[in-house]
Amino acid sequence: MSDARTIHRTDLDLSLVHRGKVRDVYRVDASTLLMVASDRVSAFDVVLPQPIPHKGEVLTLLTAWWLEQLESMLAHHLIAVHPDRIVERVPLLEASRDVWARRAMLVRETDPVLVECVVRGYLSGSAWKEYRATGTLAGEPLPEGLRESERIDPAIFSPATKAQKGEHDENITFDRMSGIVGDELAERLRDLSMRVYAYGRDVAEAKDILLADTKFEFGHRDGELLLIDEVLTPDSSRFWPCEAYVVGRSQPSLDKQPIRDFLETLDWDKTPPPPDLPDEVVGAASERYREVFHRLTGTELDAYEPPVFGDDR
Ligand SMILES: Nc1ncnc2c1ncn2[C@@H]1O[C@H](COP(=O)(O)OP(=O)(O)OP(=O)(O)O)[C@@H](O)[C@H]1O
Ligand SMILES: [Mg+2]
Repeated sequence: MSDARTIHRTDLDLSLVHRGKVRDVYRVDASTLLMVASDRVSAFDVVLPQPIPHKGEVLTLLTAWWLEQLESMLAHHLIAVHPDRIVERVPLLEASRDVWARRAMLVRETDPVLVECVVRGYLSGSAWKEYRATGTLAGEPLPEGLRESERIDPAIFSPATKAQKGEHDENITFDRMSGIVGDELAERLRDLSMRVYAYGRDVAEAKDILLADTKFEFGHRDGELLLIDEVLTPDSSRFWPCEAYVVGRSQPSLDKQPIRDFLETLDWDKTPPPPDLPDEVVGAASERYREVFHRLTGTELDAYEPPVFGDDR
């Protein structure tokens, strides 16, 4: 069952290797990391003061839900997500279980590829900005006359460099990506990303959710290429409710709309310090994250039993 604790920041009895905007990442041993998704939420790359209850749980369990289905398509980094399986492998975590259960993933540590693999099936965000300015996406010309949020078929691979702390990702062309990672790897990453996106888009569409775009990360371990990080979550993707979709304007976000709407009412310059979120906004956002989970998986978050992977099966 879901425990109701809301976690802004964790302090586990392991060595912390990275505290990102959302995840606290710990070293377990020479080849294994524990990635804990907190309930932190960011807007315009600034972490907001109030955590969103259940957000970390949704990110982690949705990633697990997708990876279980994707196993025949590609290799991934997830070793264990079921709390019992994690404790079996890392017994010292038993004591802090209520802090990390259902929000932690035990993963194979990789050398991350330094390019974010973005796939876009709808013209939105920075892609719409680029198209409006130059008629291109990822440097490639698109047909004239497309409108904001219009579906792009086939979807387009539009890589980005991984931003350093405090900076924003930068969209790059496929040629530039090839220059960074080599032709062969660039093509392989494009092919895998397009296939996973197509799968995700079809599954989401059957649940009346448009997967407008998404970002994948990959890494190498022992000569193997693995899908890493979070997969097809509200934080790595734009999910739009089908029923509200109208071409020619920006779309409401299935998960973050209450936060966006609230921030719109303020005169905030999008740099730290961020404003406080009122309780109603926090509650509405939490409800939205749970709704994304329920709509996609068909299971209420609280009733969802995390899957068992690999050797533990
Ligand atoms: N299997 C893995 N091996 C190595 N690194 C990984 C693996 N899976 C995910 N990561 C990295 O762990 C980090 C996850 O942390 P998080 O998503 O919170 O931060 P972030 O995306 O780096 O953003 P920021 O630090 O700007 O908030 C990412 O940098 C991601 O690339
Ligand atoms: Mg991240």
